[in-house]
Amino acid sequence: MYEIVKSEKLTPDVIKLEIRAPHIAKKAKAGQFIMVTPTEHGERIPLTMADFSPEKGTVTIAALEVGKTTKELGKMKAGDSVFSLVGPLGLPTHLKQYGNVVSIGGGIDLALMYPVVRAFKQSGNHTINIVGARNEKLLMYEKEIQSVSNEFFVCTDDGSKGHHGFVSDVLKKLIAENKKIDLVYAVGPIIMMKVIANITKPYNIPTVVSLNPIMVDGTGMCGSCRVIIAGETKFGCVDGPEFDGHKVDFDNLTARNKRYIPEEQVALKRFQEAK
Ligand code: FAD
Ligand code: FES
Ligand code: MG
Repeated sequence: MYEIVKSEKLTPDVIKLEIRAPHIAKKAKAGQFIMVTPTEHGERIPLTMADFSPEKGTVTIAALEVGKTTKELGKMKAGDSVFSLVGPLGLPTHLKQYGNVVSIGGGIDLALMYPVVRAFKQSGNHTINIVGARNEKLLMYEKEIQSVSNEFFVCTDDGSKGHHGFVSDVLKKLIAENKKIDLVYAVGPIIMMKVIANITKPYNIPTVVSLNPIMVDGTGMCGSCRVIIAGETKFGCVDGPEFDGHKVDFDNLTARNKRYIPEEQVALKRFQEAK
């Protein structure tokens, strides 16, 4: 069992939990995830580490409450325990001095983007960070990301803060202004990552995306997380979760991520009825 030391709602449907797990915290690197099983008879789900502290012996996760298991996590308070945590899993973000790195994220994915952009900054890069949300209230980790940004852009769909429009508009503008861009890093909904990869491809700007296929074991055994990269099958959990955005078959990933929707709806209905 893993004790929750802090529980906080970042928005009405995003829970942030800091959990005591010293053996994971001491090995964790930016870009990695953990498999979380909230309760003994619950399912395991992958969640990126939004932060980790070897000193405190804790890892932090932030989950958007979309279905049964994330809603179960959403009810957990400080002092409660999570049944099981496995990790750190997946390959860490490849860090080096690229030069100008443009990182792009939105909504819940801003929590996941933060440790990565912090690591880009610590590796000596000039960090240009573009963050977006539907509205100002849903902007998360804004101050944290800004604190590791050389240049910082905010976008909201409704214009309540920053640029009125999409994160991709800002990227297009930077490219149109001939800004030197050595790497683009995008984390977010599949459609957003596909749009970003399509924008950078004609300019040959190296683009890394963090994929979210359905994972069961998270260690390369089940094959659930198969993704197609340059026509070849790769496993999201052990070969990723980050891949070259220009080589990803996003349509295949979109279709595969929808394959259990009927079962997910039944699980959520049962969970809500049991309350
Ligand atoms: P469900 O109703 O069961 O599912 C809702 C949707 O979530 C599904 O349609 C499917 O697209 C996706 N999903 C369901 N089960 C899984 C699964 N086992 N693995 C992956 N996707 C699934 N979400 C966050 O909110 N925060 C994170 O930090 C985060 N990090 C992730 C890191 C990785 C490497 C991956 C692969 C996914 C990550 N996700 C993250 C997505 C998260 O795992 C799903 O939202 C979660 O599993 C949904 O579970 P549920 O039971 O609440 O919802
Ligand atoms: Fe089972 Fe990747 S989650 S092989
Ligand atoms: Mg589920």
